[in-house]
Amino acid sequence: MSDSPVFDDLLDEQREFPPPAEFAAKAVVSGDGLHRKGQDDYQAFWEEHARELDWYQPWDTVLNWTPPHAKWFEGGKLNITHNCLDRHLGTWRRNKAALIWEGENGEVRTLTYQQLHGEVCRFAAALKGLGVTRGDRVAIYLPMIVEAVVAMLACARIGAIHSVVFGGFSPESLADRINDSSCKVLITADGGWRRGAILPLKNEADKALEKTPCVEHVIVVKRPAGEPFPCRIKGGRDHWYHRLMESAANDCPAEEMDAEDVLYILYTSGTTGKPKGIVHTTGGYSVGTYATSKYVFDLRDDDVFWCTADIGWVTGHSYVVYGPLQCGATVLIYEGAPDHPEQDRFWELVARHRVNVFYTAPTAIRAFMKWGDHLPAKYDLSSLRLLGTVGEPINPEAWMWYHEHIGGRRCPIVDTWWQTETGAIMISGLPGVSTMKPGHAGTPFPGIEATILDEQGNEVRTGSGLLAITKPWPSMLRTIWGDDERYVQTYFTKWDAQTYFPGDGAKRDAKGNYLILGRVDDVLNVAGHRIGTMEVESALVDHPAVVESAVVGRKHDIKGEAIVAFVTLGGGRSLDDALRYDLKAHVVQKIGAIARPEEIIFASDLPKTRSGKIMRRLLRDVAEGRVLGDTTTLADGAVVEQLRESYEEKYGG
Ligand code: WT7
Repeated sequence: MSDSPVFDDLLDEQREFPPPAEFAAKAVVSGDGLHRKGQDDYQAFWEEHARELDWYQPWDTVLNWTPPHAKWFEGGKLNITHNCLDRHLGTWRRNKAALIWEGENGEVRTLTYQQLHGEVCRFAAALKGLGVTRGDRVAIYLPMIVEAVVAMLACARIGAIHSVVFGGFSPESLADRINDSSCKVLITADGGWRRGAILPLKNEADKALEKTPCVEHVIVVKRPAGEPFPCRIKGGRDHWYHRLMESAANDCPAEEMDAEDVLYILYTSGTTGKPKGIVHTTGGYSVGTYATSKYVFDLRDDDVFWCTADIGWVTGHSYVVYGPLQCGATVLIYEGAPDHPEQDRFWELVARHRVNVFYTAPTAIRAFMKWGDHLPAKYDLSSLRLLGTVGEPINPEAWMWYHEHIGGRRCPIVDTWWQTETGAIMISGLPGVSTMKPGHAGTPFPGIEATILDEQGNEVRTGSGLLAITKPWPSMLRTIWGDDERYVQTYFTKWDAQTYFPGDGAKRDAKGNYLILGRVDDVLNVAGHRIGTMEVESALVDHPAVVESAVVGRKHDIKGEAIVAFVTLGGGRSLDDALRYDLKAHVVQKIGAIARPEEIIFASDLPKTRSGKIMRRLLRDVAEGRVLGDTTTLADGAVVEQLRESYEEKYGG
């Protein structure tokens, strides 16, 4: 984690960007009052923000902490969709745009809060009509269309637990996720547009449905405009969304949920081959996403907020749907790819929709840099007033480029560190308060307590160590679906049961700004997507030719990390181009295109420590060409042996 030249530069980053006076003057929060409140009494801080939302019944206790299990706002009753929708209907916001959606083909759909409320109620009633009730699990496998937001909110409205699966995951991954939480309903679409082609989601879903006996109903959205993509509708099981909507009741009261009732499950990769179903509950998650949206994105009523994440990831849950809608914001949603039809699509969208707050990922920023300064320069981006980044460490060049070419040197940048597990932003500057430093996520959000520890749990004051969160927070995960033991083991045994281990390395500057160094476990971050090395390894070993495999990340200019797989093959087989192609295709088929290895390297033998652990650090050195000139092969057993010896001399066995 600290052997990166990028980070070595960063450690003495001297450039500082205090909040522009003009921005600070109008900011939702300025001065250090909010941070101080959070430090003085973190529970009181969160309680104060809980009070800004509507509850059917107030809570009895703010926090019940039986480490490592937390319950927030126990006794309280609420429905997050009431706070996202109904609450705004009694105000002028009723006719304010909640969603502005643009399809890849340029089609635009705008829904006011009232209209969105209507759609959500109708679909919630339709789900009820299919027998979906409180606590049932519903899988959502949709492109970035309005119905994806409607589906999530409709589930939440009736107390069903949604499990959104990113549309780029393979049928097999979809089936595993559906089965893990035994979803009763799957919501999908005939297709979705991506780079001018149609992603045949229903056809993919059909392959998953062969292996998911728990699914009783499938709802298929006909992607608006254009020809419906040919797909099979199985009588009795499959229903067109628009048909259900035609006959659904217009009204569907929101269920009164307990604060600790499960809101959703979202699967993410861990260090084993099996993804973890991260469980978020209603009350704390509402409060966390609401407060962070309000302060980090400085949301104002006349803003257009654009978070470019897909709803298949947590960023899409917290900052496309739940956070901004609770704030009553106008959210822009774009269906397609940033380079379709041209590489200026995002800037054209920003200019045309007059976007004010823009939130994206470093991998996208690096791609924009590569595509050229002239593209954003063609557009009037003067509506932008605040920029954000999330998903991986941002290199200072990319930060500076974003600042200059997108933000016109006038927009603060919030670099927000958080995770699927944390539910909401944990470390970030506040745009009207904090002095920003390129590459630094800044300080913990008010009410969040973090530190840096070494393996033994001693605080690290200078130098790098492991990021630790030392107090519970409202939007924290509550468990892993069906595997509480794994929850405890993964997050709360590194030091003690009070201290959350996120799996990231970090460092602090003298002013307490955090520099996040990236994962310290066997989890890769490829283009902002979290992929477990073990998942890819299992997919490779599943191929008949592969005996053993080891997967590592190699630095990549755009993606941050690219996947490199070392394989040993059975029966004296050698690796030719056909087999390489086949192995890559096999991984795509098992997991999805996001996990496609960039390179496959043949190894006659994998270097392991005496205790049998694969020496990943060495393999990363090989993959990045730091040892061995030719990285395409580790064919010679003697070479591997030699590597092992020199490695053990250097790092110990
Ligand atoms: C991992 C979490 C949270 C939304 C997207 C990813 C990395 C996230 C930052 C940042 C440096 C970051 C961490 C973290 N990460 N944001 N601002 N600076 N690293 O969610 O898939 O759960 O991944 O993403 O390594 O552990 P996720």
